[in-house]
Amino acid sequence: MSILITGAAGFIGSHFVQCLLRKSDSAIVALDNFNDYYDPARKRANAALFADDPRVTLIEGDFCDTEFVFRLFQEYQFEFVVHLGAYAGVRYSMDHPTIYQQVNVCGTANLLEAARRRPVERFLLASSSTVYGDGAAVPFREDAPLGTPTSPYGSSKRAAELLAQMYYEVHDVPTVSLRLFSVYGPRLRPDLAMAIFVERIARGEPLPLFGDGSIRRDFTHVDDVCRGLLAAMTAPGAIGKAINLGSDRPVAMSQLIEMLARQLGRKPNILSRPAHPGDLAATHADLARARELLGYEPCVPLADGLKEYVAWFRRLQGVATCP
Ligand SMILES: NC(=O)c1ccc[n+]([C@@H]2O[C@H](COP(=O)([O-])OP(=O)(O)OC[C@H]3O[C@@H](n4cnc5c(N)ncnc54)[C@H](O)[C@@H]3O)[C@@H](O)[C@H]2O)c1
Repeated sequence: MSILITGAAGFIGSHFVQCLLRKSDSAIVALDNFNDYYDPARKRANAALFADDPRVTLIEGDFCDTEFVFRLFQEYQFEFVVHLGAYAGVRYSMDHPTIYQQVNVCGTANLLEAARRRPVERFLLASSSTVYGDGAAVPFREDAPLGTPTSPYGSSKRAAELLAQMYYEVHDVPTVSLRLFSVYGPRLRPDLAMAIFVERIARGEPLPLFGDGSIRRDFTHVDDVCRGLLAAMTAPGAIGKAINLGSDRPVAMSQLIEMLARQLGRKPNILSRPAHPGDLAATHADLARARELLGYEPCVPLADGLKEYVAWFRRLQGVATCP
């Protein structure tokens, strides 16, 4: 069995490769272009965790390159595609909308078209809670009307979902869109609020808080997301569906800061900033569909996950400051 994982050197991608290596003997093609959205050295360190495994072929390449993608599918005859590669930051997308269209929409179209030409058993697309947008009823249900995306990132993920849906309905490509909710854990992307909060609290520096701290996020541990992705690769009723992978326990940003400060044993120095237009007031996953179709149940309580994340952060700092 051959599995393509795009964005394999990223935060979620690297965890998912490791998850697959623990659970199966499949051959994995781990694709990433190691772009500089954040420090590529972080991505190289992530990839080093699995690059020497004989079951893994690590390929540095760009899924926006149509000919390269078609050649890749021809050479490896993938049975599964888990498409995690993307430009994933909401804030950055406000000032750089074009790259989100190119990578998240056109890049996804390349992979879907390749899967139409060289059929696969399943194509998983990493979508996002941002597709619900402004005006969607909370908690977010997959079968309720969607609101308007509040960022180019959100609209690019919605466009990618629509492409996946079209490729399923028109071309029979067996797609599943997984809507991920504020994923966190070791190796977290450094541009995300949780990573910035931890770094600033640890250094005793002011931490920027956009809005009044009442924004709520459904933080979901990366191990839970990996279990959901794994189930979606084979669950019989999942094809053609969008499915939430969240925690169903939203927490206010002010509460998150308190929990992190407690873990770090320091007082946060909050720097209030105006609310950001790209931020939804709340994200909250309704998990009925994920439970029914995937047998999904988030298992990692936020307090435990934060403890693990802070411990990882401390180890990273230790390594970074060693001579
Ligand atoms: N982290 C979250 O909270 C979250 C929430 C919702 C959805 N998602 C989605 O999950 C996926 C993974 O997110 P992440 O947080 O791990 O982000 P990440 O930035 O750590 O990982 C994405 C990886 O994709 C790679 N990549 C980007 N463009 C590429 C290209 N053209 N060709 C090859 N590789 C390319 C990047 O180099 C990076 O390593 C993304 O699709 C993201 O939109 C993440």
